[in-house]
Amino acid sequence: MKAIPTLLLFSLLATPALALQVQSPDTRITFSVDVDDDGVPRYSVSYRGERVVRESRLGMRFADHHAFDTGLRIMRSVRSGGNSTWQQPWGERRRVRDHYNELFVLFQADAPARQIGLRVRVYDDGVGFRYEVPEQGGYADVEIVDELTEFHLAPEATAWWIPGRGWNRYEFLYNETPVMDIGLAHTPVTVRVPGGVHLSIHEAALVDYAAYVLDRRRGGLLKTNLTPWSDGIRVRTRAPFVTPWRTIQVSPDAKGLLNSDLILNLNEPNKLGDVSWVEPGKYVGIWWGMHLHEKTWGSGPEHGATTAEARRHIDFAARHGFDGVLVEGWNTGWDGNWIANGAVFNFTKPYPDFDIEAVAGYARDKGVRLVGHHETSGHVSNYERQMGAAFDLYESLGVRQVKTGYVADGGGLVRVDDGIDKHEWHDGQFATGHFIRVLEEAAKRKISINTHEPVKDTGLRRTYPNWISREGARGQEYNAAWASPNPPSHNVTLPFTRMLSGPMDFTPGIFDLLHQGTGSDFRVASTLAHQLALYVVLYSPIQMAADLPENYEQRPDAFQFIKDVPTDWEESIALDGEVGQFAVFARQERGGDDWYVGAISGDRPKAIAFPLSFLEPDRRYIATIYRDGDDADWESAPYDVVIEERSVSAKDSLELRLGAGGGAAVRLRPDD
Ligand code: NOJ
Ligand code: CA
Repeated sequence: MKAIPTLLLFSLLATPALALQVQSPDTRITFSVDVDDDGVPRYSVSYRGERVVRESRLGMRFADHHAFDTGLRIMRSVRSGGNSTWQQPWGERRRVRDHYNELFVLFQADAPARQIGLRVRVYDDGVGFRYEVPEQGGYADVEIVDELTEFHLAPEATAWWIPGRGWNRYEFLYNETPVMDIGLAHTPVTVRVPGGVHLSIHEAALVDYAAYVLDRRRGGLLKTNLTPWSDGIRVRTRAPFVTPWRTIQVSPDAKGLLNSDLILNLNEPNKLGDVSWVEPGKYVGIWWGMHLHEKTWGSGPEHGATTAEARRHIDFAARHGFDGVLVEGWNTGWDGNWIANGAVFNFTKPYPDFDIEAVAGYARDKGVRLVGHHETSGHVSNYERQMGAAFDLYESLGVRQVKTGYVADGGGLVRVDDGIDKHEWHDGQFATGHFIRVLEEAAKRKISINTHEPVKDTGLRRTYPNWISREGARGQEYNAAWASPNPPSHNVTLPFTRMLSGPMDFTPGIFDLLHQGTGSDFRVASTLAHQLALYVVLYSPIQMAADLPENYEQRPDAFQFIKDVPTDWEESIALDGEVGQFAVFARQERGGDDWYVGAISGDRPKAIAFPLSFLEPDRRYIATIYRDGDDADWESAPYDVVIEERSVSAKDSLELRLGAGGGAAVRLRPDD
């Protein structure tokens, strides 16, 4: 038989008229892909036969190369899949199942001939797809000017979203609107389609690429809009290259989104080898006092970071079993308008009233670690110049964690290029590269990083387990400073939005809820029990006890929960919840038998009931319950808390009433 040339063989096998489909292992989710009559590649997603993402465009355009937009045909498709389990060094659960069906589709366009691949993975909890541009003539160096990927949703579906490319980065309150009223939105964007299926649109493994925001076009059409460099180009790269995964988590209800591991599964495994030096834990710090304007970051009579204050905090941490003490404002550069003066921060020169060697030594003697702090005010070049020496210093002092900060308006990161200041976004290709350079420098010294004002999380903690936490949303700090306080609905929106991307350093645990008196707007709009519940609800392997030491010492009964609650988990289960209304989580201590439950409510009170069937059968447990009292309400009775013990087993249910802005925190320990 005469050999058929490969190209011809592919054309014979190609079936451009037929949609290719790939289903989740449980067959509920179907991803379909095809090219239309103009050769435009399109996909759609359905859940149990209901189309939840309508036909949506795929493709990309370049500055000086022919685009992958029209005139494409399907050359080849390959099916495969995966079913394995991997372990997290730390996390919401130890073991993660990675089970998917895969479809790879190669598209080809002519004149000139060019190819782009699409790899699709469909899991029971959603889909991920990414472009794979193979090596090919003429595409050695490319500048992407537009990615055409769309997510075409029902216009009337409800969406929870924050503005994209705004001045305050990711630190906005969430909007709840129909999809057709979205403007530019950061991901994750959470959507409830009519009928109740919930979706979260995001991305995974954002490496050497720009993040995207969603740009609503007509109706319910959301288009990716890649964050540009300061010169307008979106991404500079060279073939072969792959894009981050574009992800759509799919669940029949809101709580299902909270139990999804899709984002982590789509990231590459740990690149750092032995990471036993990455230490989850709890910390206190010289921090809230600055937000209360009682202390200053800069030098002067109210300087927070003094040797004496640090010692006082170390004593407190040691007395109550905390692992670390964060000290902010210790290094020179804070005086004057520090937000505008990023170029003058010095990361190795302490203020004269802060004896860093003595403080670190004192901490070591007490079995506590100093937690480092590098505020850059967004001057990335100033930081990168000093980074090696800065991490060397901390390494020599036994510091294992550094909180970094990038307080600069969106689009205001400074990159000095040939002596000229260029201004970049926190989520452009320059920033995504910078954040990874920091992780690599830190990892060489066994240091973990907690980034404030970061790029959004896309699951890179799997690849770089020293990316231990980050901010990237409005945290507790807004309840004392920066703008206006968070309303009660904020904390019950976070689990279903921001938290789907990964851990957050929210800094819970404020006990002095009315720190500026009842007349002030700046108060914490929650009950005391809610503050405790946040340690379980808002996952982070490092959690701060954010209030001043003296405020904890006045409430040893409630403080006990913060002392007990772990930050690393064997298993986590979202038990119940609705976006913006309430959330209930149960988590089992890593390497232990204890379970913890956290429940929070938003604007309105909520009665919850849940079976304790996650407990081991045939075993009795003592439940220590920290719950809202009958009158608890964030506004009128925030301190109404009841602390009680009950004997329970897996056959029991717990019924709890949460006040407005309320909560409940429960420790369950075996009674044997
Ligand atoms: C903003 C951060 O979110 C906050 O935690 C920190 O204290 C200040 N920047 C100063 O670095
Ligand atoms: Ca911040």
